[in-house]
Amino acid sequence: MSSSTTRKILVTSALPYANGSIHLGHLVEYIQTDIWVRFQKMQGHTVHYVCADDTHGTPIMLRAEKEGITPEALIEAVHKEHSQDFADFLVQFDNYHSTNSIENKELASGIYKALKAGGKIATKTIEQFFDPVKNMFLPDRFIKGECPKCHAKDQYGDSCEVCGATYNPTELINPFSAVSGAAPVRKETEHYFFKLSECSDFLREWTRSGTLQAEAANKMTEWLGEVGENKLSDWDISRDAPYFGFEIPDAPGKYFYVWLDAPIGYMASFKNLCERQGLNFDEYWAKDSKTELYHFIGKDILYFHALFWPATLEYSGYRTPTSVFAHGFLTVNGEKMSKSRGTFITARSYLDHIKNPEYLRYYYAAKLNGSMEDIDLNLEDFVARVNSDLVGKYINIASRTAGFITKQFDGKLCGVVNGDLSREDSHLDVITQELIQSADEIKRLYEMRDYAKALRKVMELTDHVNFYIADKKPWEIAKQVGQDGNLRMVCSVAINCFRLLTIYLKPVLPRLVTQIESMLNVQPLLWSDANTLLSDGHEINEYSHLITRVELKAIEAMTEANKENLQATPVPQVHSEQRHAVHQQNEVKAELPEVEYISIDDFTKVDLRIAKIVNAEYVEGAEKLLRVSLDIGEDKPRQVFAGIKSAYDPESLTGRLTVMVANLAPRKMKFGMSEGMVLAASDERGGPFILSPDSGAMAGMKVK
Ligand code: MSP
Ligand code: ZN
Repeated sequence: MSSSTTRKILVTSALPYANGSIHLGHLVEYIQTDIWVRFQKMQGHTVHYVCADDTHGTPIMLRAEKEGITPEALIEAVHKEHSQDFADFLVQFDNYHSTNSIENKELASGIYKALKAGGKIATKTIEQFFDPVKNMFLPDRFIKGECPKCHAKDQYGDSCEVCGATYNPTELINPFSAVSGAAPVRKETEHYFFKLSECSDFLREWTRSGTLQAEAANKMTEWLGEVGENKLSDWDISRDAPYFGFEIPDAPGKYFYVWLDAPIGYMASFKNLCERQGLNFDEYWAKDSKTELYHFIGKDILYFHALFWPATLEYSGYRTPTSVFAHGFLTVNGEKMSKSRGTFITARSYLDHIKNPEYLRYYYAAKLNGSMEDIDLNLEDFVARVNSDLVGKYINIASRTAGFITKQFDGKLCGVVNGDLSREDSHLDVITQELIQSADEIKRLYEMRDYAKALRKVMELTDHVNFYIADKKPWEIAKQVGQDGNLRMVCSVAINCFRLLTIYLKPVLPRLVTQIESMLNVQPLLWSDANTLLSDGHEINEYSHLITRVELKAIEAMTEANKENLQATPVPQVHSEQRHAVHQQNEVKAELPEVEYISIDDFTKVDLRIAKIVNAEYVEGAEKLLRVSLDIGEDKPRQVFAGIKSAYDPESLTGRLTVMVANLAPRKMKFGMSEGMVLAASDERGGPFILSPDSGAMAGMKVK
């Protein structure tokens, strides 16, 4: 390819959080990007594909603490695991770095300083919930309490899973810290803001320049509002210590919010690659860069990539992305991935059961069309599709014809073209002609990320080649006397067609294609090879079994194993404050955790006791509460504030037995400490009704 048409392209996938395993949902993105990158490399373009682990933030800090290790040790272990998962799915990054790197620290500080010098940073004192036990400010996702709308208990600080309401954490009734159980207090703190509100005009302009898919551009218009209208609010980019992240220059105790340094991690990963390979960083990132920059992301993080990120780059003196490509979410069998259904499948679990990563690459590719629509992995369809397309159709071409060449003609093909390929009168079989002529159309579809259409075209061509073979019947020609030349020609045409199909499938099936290249005895195939055919006398190697069918049994074993996993080792679902930032901007609802089964171990964590109410009384100034003293066989009764005033007279309670949670973290309430919880039933039909044990139960007995 001549240098004038050689593009220089930098491609990224979103940086996965370093607090969990890669799962089949993530892989939609990494496989999609990897296919595009491999396709571009096959065109002869200069392409760099970089990624990294996203390592900062409260969830990672707390998870490390829970595991009794440092955040550094946690992110290092996860980095190894992620790298291995990606390698095993043939996702070939040119660099897989970390946001907790020296390059990232320097770039983030530099960008911040440039924004500050440009007048784009402001400080503001805000009031936030603070955990007095853990001595830390709480992200909304780490505050729980009663929903202010429907009064469901134990809801997150940003939205209610029962009624779907969204609200501020300050509106929760009886809020408590999900970290310590303590009642949070409100506390003032100074935060740093990026003045996004001043970036509307730039962002409108940037959106207009064809950077976004139609659906994403519509979202942007919604977020930005009409010209003159200012719908954007400034972006809070700081967090207080303790926080795992980078300290803000000249602001001791203040850290960059993880979403500030995460996308800068794209640059940092590339910078690290430049240092190792002697590439020119500025050529790709300077304001006047002539290179192309593409970010592949999921639709849930569009807000960050289409608003914050281009604005950050623009006002700190860097180039902005050429395009952001957003994709939809993965569903399995038509539903959200689910731990109870066994469809929350990690990359590793897939490999353990199904083994071959290329089946999944092929299936996803057959579904991805470059839009933001969700894509469904239907497990039965997966089996049928892979077996039919890859085994039944594509590989079948080689398995039915290569043997004749190796056994009867010393592996030597005959020429399938008479004369100059570019001339109309060259005697090329129509089938070969059709395949060669389809190269440009398939190329265009890959470029547009419409892999679904590209593969439909490839499979249509594959069908044509199979019709050709069925029509010529080489196995019958082989039985006829004096038909050697004919047999050799039919098989040579088929093998040439197989080679062309292999070129078109190479971005999707890189490992299988490597094996096929060695069977065909050819150099690594490039897209431009689709203009040529194998020459007269080209020798191929023996066909050996290349691919096996997927068994439905393996799929069933996989979903079963994932169900079992759930009971053996429940995976803690860490909710990221990161997602929450999207809520703050009234964007798509964050993924809510599904109702999950708990293990018996989870249940026994709750210490339920029979309690004797030794005293109950009104509390001055309390609308709903009674102060109850509960004897559970300890030296001194427990004091609990129970929200049962509406249903019970204090006198009627004294002397009764009931059930309490004895190991709930003590909570400091307005009226004093509450040292447990009295259980009561209620719903829209009435309540609260406290519980009574059968006669014979005694104070202090364990309920289990
Ligand atoms: N750390 C952020 C991204 C920072 S980029 C500067 C993040 N991490 S993530 O691990 O939650 O997700 C990584 C990518 O995988 C995101 O683009 C996300 O949309 C994508 N997916 C995660 N779960 C997914 C599905 N279930 N389906 C499809 N894509 C999914 O977001
Ligand atoms: Zn609610």
